[in-house]
Amino acid sequence: MMNMKNLAVAAFALIVLVSCSEKKQTSLKDAYKDYFYIGAAIDRDQIAGKDSAATQLLVSQFNSIVPENVMKWERIHPQMDSFVFAPVDSFVELGLKNKMFIVGHCLCWHSQVPPYVFVDAKGKDVSKDTLLARLKSHITTVVSRYKGKVNGYDVVNEALNEDGTFRQSKWYQIAGEEYIEKAFQYAYEADSSAELYYNDYNIEQPAKRAGAIKLIKNLQAKGIKVSGVGIQGHWHVNSPSMSVVDSAIVDFAKLGVKVMFTELDFTVIPNPWDNNNANISDTFAFKKEMNPYADGLPDSVQQKLANRYADFFTVAAKHKDVVSRVTFWGLHDGQSWLNNWPIFGRTNYPLPFDRKLQPKPAYYSILKVVSK
Ligand code: GLA
Repeated sequence: MMNMKNLAVAAFALIVLVSCSEKKQTSLKDAYKDYFYIGAAIDRDQIAGKDSAATQLLVSQFNSIVPENVMKWERIHPQMDSFVFAPVDSFVELGLKNKMFIVGHCLCWHSQVPPYVFVDAKGKDVSKDTLLARLKSHITTVVSRYKGKVNGYDVVNEALNEDGTFRQSKWYQIAGEEYIEKAFQYAYEADSSAELYYNDYNIEQPAKRAGAIKLIKNLQAKGIKVSGVGIQGHWHVNSPSMSVVDSAIVDFAKLGVKVMFTELDFTVIPNPWDNNNANISDTFAFKKEMNPYADGLPDSVQQKLANRYADFFTVAAKHKDVVSRVTFWGLHDGQSWLNNWPIFGRTNYPLPFDRKLQPKPAYYSILKVVSK
């Protein structure tokens, strides 16, 4: 017969078992399943499954993926006649295997695009027709290969300046603003069922937001399919205000497109400028005082980050009718690009999972927003 001591031990074991399974069941993707997809940008090693703990974290917490780099033009199409599909094939397989919403990033961008795209054999700028033909060939090849598998694409990335005017990129200089509609058109022709997005940073800010609205309206007036707008969300723990984010969602929703946060992270260390710039060509020299938390994040900042995430997810959840996805730019702090940009070699803490892949207070504050 079970004595009191054994009974107490059995009861304790049961409690541990129940709370462990409860813990196991709680995840970002489950907590937000009636709201929107929860995504993560993953790197080459994570795609290759080199770190089993990272894979476990990915599949248990997230239901959407985007490739951090392997689908960018310089990686997938490094030379005119050669494509590197293997890592992207693996990325897509990973998403299919785990029934994830798969996002392709990105088809047309001014960065991480090899110089050959814009010049002829003599190194002179190509004509508009040639450039558009190259764009078509790139987009058709990539999108056709993953037709019916990749669910949505960042078709054009970062075409605007901070004041809402067009960025003077090589695309714009050679082809004018028409390259944008062509990129969307080519993507649609290659896979008419894929969602097609315009993606940019700081488009929550009024001037740039107005430029993005104009750009999307212009495409819509021409009958070109635009499924959604991606607000990147490379933000600071102190800015922008969530009321700006709230009004941006409302304004973009008026266009009848989905709104998504596609590259979310909150830097907690100082930037060498005031605004939330994400122009990857802007880099600065390392200074010790610009790396204040090399030995660990103080509790006060940890808490501030947790509150910030809660504030953001409160706004996003409020607009769950139009917000279709929130994707973090990285799986955990150790992987984040913000350790190396805009200053190389710093220690940043922008994500809800730490370097040991453990949930941070930010993780629990995100869950709390939607816990009943
Ligand atoms: C931009 C791009 C992303 C990525 C980040 C920084 O936001 O859209 O692909 O390069 O910069 O990693």
